[in-house]
Amino acid sequence: MKIDVSKMSEEEAKKRLRELREIINYHNYLYYVLDKPEISDYEYDQLFQELLAIETRFPYLVTPDSPSQKVGALPLEEFKTVEHKIPMLSLGKAFTEEELVAFDKRVKKEAGIDIIEYVTELKMDGLAISIRYVDGVIELGATRGDGFRGEDVTPNVKTVKNIPLRLFSDEIPPVIEVRGEVIMYWKDFEELNREREKNGEPLFANPRNAAAGSIRQLDSRITASRKLHMIAYGIGEVEGRQFRKQYEVLEYLQKIGFRVSPEFSLCSGIDEVIKRCRYHARKRSEYPFGADGVAIKVNDIEIQQRLGATSHEPRWAIAYKFPAEEAETVVRDIIVQVGRTGTLTPVAIFDPVELEGSTVSRATLHNEDQVKMLDIRVGDHIIVRKAGSVIPEVVKSLPDKRNGREIIFKMPDKCPVCGSHVERLEGEAATRCTNVSCPAQVKERIIHFVSRNAMDIESIGEKLVEQMVDRKLIEDYADLYFLTEEQLLTLERMGKKLAEKILKNIEESKSRPLPNLIFALGIFQVGRRTAELIAEKFKNLDELMKASVEEILEVEGIGPVTAHSIRDFFDNPRNQEVIKKLKKAGVKTSAVEEIKEGLLNGLVFVFTGTLKNFSRSDAEKIVKSLGGEVASTVSKRISYVVVGEDPGSKLDKAREYNIKTIDEEDFTKLIGR
Ligand code: IVH
Repeated sequence: MKIDVSKMSEEEAKKRLRELREIINYHNYLYYVLDKPEISDYEYDQLFQELLAIETRFPYLVTPDSPSQKVGALPLEEFKTVEHKIPMLSLGKAFTEEELVAFDKRVKKEAGIDIIEYVTELKMDGLAISIRYVDGVIELGATRGDGFRGEDVTPNVKTVKNIPLRLFSDEIPPVIEVRGEVIMYWKDFEELNREREKNGEPLFANPRNAAAGSIRQLDSRITASRKLHMIAYGIGEVEGRQFRKQYEVLEYLQKIGFRVSPEFSLCSGIDEVIKRCRYHARKRSEYPFGADGVAIKVNDIEIQQRLGATSHEPRWAIAYKFPAEEAETVVRDIIVQVGRTGTLTPVAIFDPVELEGSTVSRATLHNEDQVKMLDIRVGDHIIVRKAGSVIPEVVKSLPDKRNGREIIFKMPDKCPVCGSHVERLEGEAATRCTNVSCPAQVKERIIHFVSRNAMDIESIGEKLVEQMVDRKLIEDYADLYFLTEEQLLTLERMGKKLAEKILKNIEESKSRPLPNLIFALGIFQVGRRTAELIAEKFKNLDELMKASVEEILEVEGIGPVTAHSIRDFFDNPRNQEVIKKLKKAGVKTSAVEEIKEGLLNGLVFVFTGTLKNFSRSDAEKIVKSLGGEVASTVSKRISYVVVGEDPGSKLDKAREYNIKTIDEEDFTKLIGR
């Protein structure tokens, strides 16, 4: 019977809360773990509302493991690092059945047994996490990180609906770490992206990125708003309990409140495993979440221990990767896009098909030769697949299905965007628009310039660049540094706050490291890695601009095509003008290392609060490049705590430990700027 909360005594509240938490946890388990709810959503909501009403009246009775605590805590300043006592390994991969047979042969030989028992589980495509429970109550949630050290994301992990805050069952070990994958269902991923598109936010490329992005949020209220699930697959550190089989581990995980891989099974010998892999590959598109293969594990834990692990992978387990999914469709058009270097790229537009859970309707055909080689015509039946599970590609055309009305593709001789003449140089596959001011090129170059690995101006996205170019606010990327607030305010959907943020980001970008700048320039053939190699040798832009082709060729890993392309870029008077403008704006064009290598050797820094002229990651990079170290928490070994605006609790800690604090100005001097 429901009691009137306003008249409830504290004793009654305590009793009812205990009851409600137990009932709600039980229904959570039925719903999220077993997929077999016993009550309607309405009834569940009633129970939850009652719990919230009592906790609102008696806030001091709220416990950390109450189901109401899955709402998200206040934002963290940054993640703390967590060491995994038992490393979180990854799995070796098998792409063919032969590779599975070879794996089994190795296992049999090393274990000295004829027939090995394996457990198969789906290999879910998400983010690995480890959750530590002490006396059955959640204490820590950490990402895998590099396998040895991850990030403390406890408040976020607590918001995931099917992760129990308190373990079920009476026989709970004093300490147990549950490991598994946080995933997002296809339908929730699509809904999230629809919502983000509406709000003009960047879309997630796939559910894995969406799940990872949601868990690695400083504000756990955002994590709570995302629909995440966790599927457990193993155990890390455990005290006071021993497991003999992986199968037993999975059953136990279910018993204490976790969802495990659907259809996990016990197989005797590799032939049964292979059958299971074929079965899952057939069914793969029916699973509500992305699964990219089957995890195959030796069932007997004693044999697992005997086989051991390399530094990264256990020898007792392997991941069978599903073959890329293929589908047949019909080409409706071949359009031509113009990229930042003016390259014309043919793109096949076809009837939408489902591939690995998402709908695709276009795929790049790269260049004229590729279209010829694959002989793709408009109207052709083609086979498409997802390469590396992300980018769709055309595998082949099906000439037998032609009816004679198919149209052969011809590369246009005029740029489809600006109408200028196009050319294809001898020995090159690319056809290019010759007009460097072609709006398509201009936009693409600026989009590249602001992108993450380049100048990282995060508040400027594609839509904004398009508007700025169309309205002639900017003609090249250097113009970004001369934008004013008034100009920005003339753009659609622009408020004062956003304009201020954009200007702040632009200002911050002036001090990006040299490789970022070289990459940002958009030189044909110069990717991020090449930019790093170049920056290492030339140390500043002026040196690079003066360098001959021969000198550029001295950089290891750079060939003649790239070297000529770099020289051509700097010989072009338009590019020289743009670089002049960048310098005039105060964009840093030299590497820090050149000036003060080793300046901060032996010093350890902690940052707190926001710096005005550096992003946190740039400040950290600078410290590291000068030989210093950056820590995330304040301890006695710290040399300086750098205090920005709105510092967090680290400032109090610094005072408590009597550690020297410096402001941004001191920091700037210290690094020799
Ligand atoms: S077992 C020591 N089982 O795949 C064994 N991993 O490449 C460690 N994954 O980092 C992993 N589903 O994030 C295991 N059923 C499953 C899995 C699974 C997904 C992920 C996990 C791991 C990666 C291994």
